[in-house]
Amino acid sequence: MPKIWTERIFDDPEIYVLRIDDDRIRYFEAVWEIPEGISYNAYLVKLNGANVLIDGWKGNYAKEFIDALSKIVDPKEITHIIVNHTEPDHSGSLPATLKTIGHDVEIIASNFGKRLLEGFYGIKDVTVVKDGEEREIGGKKFKFVMTPWLHWPDTMVTYLDGILFSCDVGGGYLLPEILDDSNESVVERYLPHVTKYIVTVIGHYKNYILEGAEKLSSLKIKALLPGHGLIWKKDPQRLLNHYVSVAKGDPKKGKVTVIYDSMYGFVENVMKKAIDSLKEKGFTPVVYKFSDEERPAISEILKDIPDSEALIFGVSTYEAEIHPLMRFTLLEIIDKANYEKPVLVFGVHGWAPSAERTAGELLKETKFRILSFTEIKGSNMDERKIEEAISLLKKELE
Ligand code: FEO
Repeated sequence: MPKIWTERIFDDPEIYVLRIDDDRIRYFEAVWEIPEGISYNAYLVKLNGANVLIDGWKGNYAKEFIDALSKIVDPKEITHIIVNHTEPDHSGSLPATLKTIGHDVEIIASNFGKRLLEGFYGIKDVTVVKDGEEREIGGKKFKFVMTPWLHWPDTMVTYLDGILFSCDVGGGYLLPEILDDSNESVVERYLPHVTKYIVTVIGHYKNYILEGAEKLSSLKIKALLPGHGLIWKKDPQRLLNHYVSVAKGDPKKGKVTVIYDSMYGFVENVMKKAIDSLKEKGFTPVVYKFSDEERPAISEILKDIPDSEALIFGVSTYEAEIHPLMRFTLLEIIDKANYEKPVLVFGVHGWAPSAERTAGELLKETKFRILSFTEIKGSNMDERKIEEAISLLKKELE
């Protein structure tokens, strides 16, 4: 049974978190491998004459959500529901919640959110708020800020007394053993899972992270309460800075991510030489290999792209194309982690060079700068060519 948290996290205004640790999920959005799990966080604000529920949980935990909610408030006393984002990992519990409340409750969402609520659940009676709009509820001022494409076009955040209810913005994978950022070692362990979450979920829209951060910079944020992962009470700016850094692809000096497939060891021989050369030149390679014994998670590969200084791909020839797993990996890197970073491509072939034609075709319309294609015939390893390519990279990064 997933762990469920219902705790009071602020006294004035009185705010509760409802968090469920989804340790059953294996593939977020039915694609991203997350053995570390993900939490869904909702919040309840108790005010004078109003109880405001903010977001919810995934639909398969609707019963657990109602049970958790009932521990902190009589659901029939809920007056407002704010839907920051309609993706069903946050809105799936909404129909059951409305049924339990059993009376008219004001649902507040963005204009796009209203359309999606009708499309997903047939919910038509929704109050639409505009960017920057303020509403007084229970004697408190709620401000709604549109943050489109973080992660869907419907997405907004809600600001109340310096507290930002940010849904997907500020989220991360992992099931931290505490609720907030008070413990440094937990935060350090958590941040790589935030990177992984950003790249896999929001990476396609990463320019909107920069726009959103700029927009939110006008707010004085004393706490950030996201829809996934840790709550940020001690240092919310640290998380926002992390989001910006991932969106920009700030590199870590010397980090080079090397990804290759090797069916019969030919590519591996070439890449071993390339990796040795990288190490000799002071780089720190992070290596992912697809073989008949190994299959790294694509989500893990994606996590390592933003702070790499450069990428190196090693590809075999497969039915006159590149290996299918390398194709998928490249397509996802291009889609989710398209950065202005230098790239080397090594190709190994049996009868005709193909890396430039295949991998080159995939990469040509991207931001990546391809420094060289190095084509090797089978086991005829040309160490000089490999050395030249790595030296070219070294020079590029000096
Ligand atoms: Fe966590 Fe876009 O939903």
